[in-house]
Amino acid sequence: MSAASTAATPEQVDALVRVAQDVALRAGALVHEGRPGDVRVAATKSSAVDVVTAMDLASEELVRTALARLRPDDGVLGEEDGYRAGTSGVTWVVDPIDGTVNYLYGIPAYAVSLAAVVDPAADAAGTAPDPATWTVLAGCVHAPAQDRTYTAGRGRGAHADGRPLRLGPPAPLAECLVGTGFGYVAVRRRTQARVLVELLPRVRDIRRAGSAALDLCDVAAGRLDLHYERGLQPWDMAAASLVVLEAGGDVRGLRGRPAGPDMTVAGPAERVADLVALLTELDADRDDTA
Ligand code: IPD
Repeated sequence: MSAASTAATPEQVDALVRVAQDVALRAGALVHEGRPGDVRVAATKSSAVDVVTAMDLASEELVRTALARLRPDDGVLGEEDGYRAGTSGVTWVVDPIDGTVNYLYGIPAYAVSLAAVVDPAADAAGTAPDPATWTVLAGCVHAPAQDRTYTAGRGRGAHADGRPLRLGPPAPLAECLVGTGFGYVAVRRRTQARVLVELLPRVRDIRRAGSAALDLCDVAAGRLDLHYERGLQPWDMAAASLVVLEAGGDVRGLRGRPAGPDMTVAGPAERVADLVALLTELDADRDDTA
C-alpha cells in the first residue's frame, strides 16, 4: 500500500482485520475486567464519570501502544487522544469505548471499535481522515460484555464471531425496527425529538440502545432493520460502517452526501433510500434554531 493509494491486496486487508481484532479483543478485556462492579461506589473519591473516563483513556492507551508495536508506520485517530499522522497511508480510527453511558450504568451494550482507513485527500491536506473521503479497509467492533466480535475487510466480507453476515430481503418501512441515537446537546436533541415524532408512526418501532457501533453491527446481523443518527463521530462509525457494507448493506448521508456527522443512515439499500427521503423532508440533518 503506498501512502497515496487506496488499493490494498486481499492479503493486506486480511492482515489489517487480524490486527484490528487482536487489539480490539485486548482492549475489550481491559475495559470489561477493569470495570468496577459498582462504578458509583468506586467513584467515591471523584465522580462516576471520571472512573469511566479513566477507563476510556486506559483503553485508548492500550490500543495506541499495541498499534505502535504492530504497525509502527500507521497513523492513529482516537476519540480521547486525537490524531497522530503516520507515513504508511493507513490510519487507525479508534473508539476505546463506544457506549460510554451504558458502560457507566453496567448495561452490556458497549464496544471497542477499531478501523483501518486510507484517505489520500486528508493526507495531502495534512488533516485527520474524514468519513466523507476515506475508504475503510478493515474493522473490528468487539463487545466484551456481550461476548460478540464483528469483523469486516473491504472486499472480504463481514463476520460475527467468524460467521458470515448477509442482509436478508428488506421489510417494508412500516415493518422496520429502527435504531437511532441522540446527541449530548439540548438543541440537537430537540430536533431529534421532532424527527422522532414524525418517524415513529411510520415504522415498526424505535430502539435507542446506546452504542452506534453496535447498532450498525446489529443492522448487519439482522437484529435491526435500519439505523440513522445525526452527530456520529468518525470513531463511532468507521469499523461498523464497513461491517454493514460488507454484509451487503448501504451506508449514506442525506442530499447525496456520504455518511458522516451530519447524518448516517444504514441498512438495505432500498430501505435506506426510503429513510433518506423521509429524513431529508424532515430536515433531520439540520438543528432547529428556534
Ligand atoms: C456515543 C454512542 C451513542 C451515540 C452517540 C455517540 P460514545 O458514543 O455511540 O450511541 O448516540 O452519538 O457519541 O460517546 O459512547 O463513544
